Amino acid sequence: MKKSSHPILKKPVKQEKKMRLDRILANSGLGSRKDVKKLIKNARISLDGQILTDPGRKIDEDQKDLLCLDNEPIRVQEWLYYLMHKPAGYLTAMNQTEGMGTATLGDLVPDFFFHKKIVPVGRLDKDTTGLLLFTNDGILHHRLLSPKYKIPRTYEVSVKILDHCFNEDDVKAVALGMDIGSGESSGPGELTILESDRARLTLYEGKYHEVKRIMEALGKKVVHLHRLSYGPIRLGNEKTGQIRLLEPVEVTSMFLACGLDDISIPLN
Ligand code: URA
Repeated sequence: MKKSSHPILKKPVKQEKKMRLDRILANSGLGSRKDVKKLIKNARISLDGQILTDPGRKIDEDQKDLLCLDNEPIRVQEWLYYLMHKPAGYLTAMNQTEGMGTATLGDLVPDFFFHKKIVPVGRLDKDTTGLLLFTNDGILHHRLLSPKYKIPRTYEVSVKILDHCFNEDDVKAVALGMDIGSGESSGPGELTILESDRARLTLYEGKYHEVKRIMEALGKKVVHLHRLSYGPIRLGNEKTGQIRLLEPVEVTSMFLACGLDDISIPLN
């Protein structure tokens, strides 16, 4: 795949010499200004081994690397990458207006997601559970969703059988791509039969209600849909509703999957 550059590489380095402690911490993704003030108040932030108590303390650019939370160095990052184990019952939307009174993911994410403009990558239906990625990295966000990059999404689906149990003809039909109504067809996918009414499905694009429409075309109705992975990122032991920062190795693997292979981890 052709190499592409990422704006992280082109971004001019800020020449600011000193910055307020609370601003540095909020920019690193630890939380909103309010959240990080709490960390400071609780004596959890140190600089070169010394506990810091003043959120307004000016920190030199070259001292930023010595900041620790609970004695662990803080990685100061501007672009942030998270996963959520989405629970059922939440709309993939960040604000209440979009939800019109229904719970949204905006109710589950910490406040700093709003300050840092961290948003979900694509949508899962209200009743769908499983892996949902979040980022404020516009380039990666676009590529993860674009059909051009053929990023695999794997789901486990349980169905009510309206016509016939999962069979080899279903596997072939999914592999070829199917008419899913409204003049659309699904791209080629992979169906692995687990039981007569349960299967694993991998798709390389994300059309509206695509899994449900494929299942309908196969004579089945989805009763439970759960996303196991998105590109190289898999759901592990995260509890329902849990959100966690992706590990640097996971971020690098997403960059590679999206053809952004000339960049390492975007640390400031
Ligand atoms: N396809 C669907 O039909 N629903 C989802 O939530 C995700 C993919």
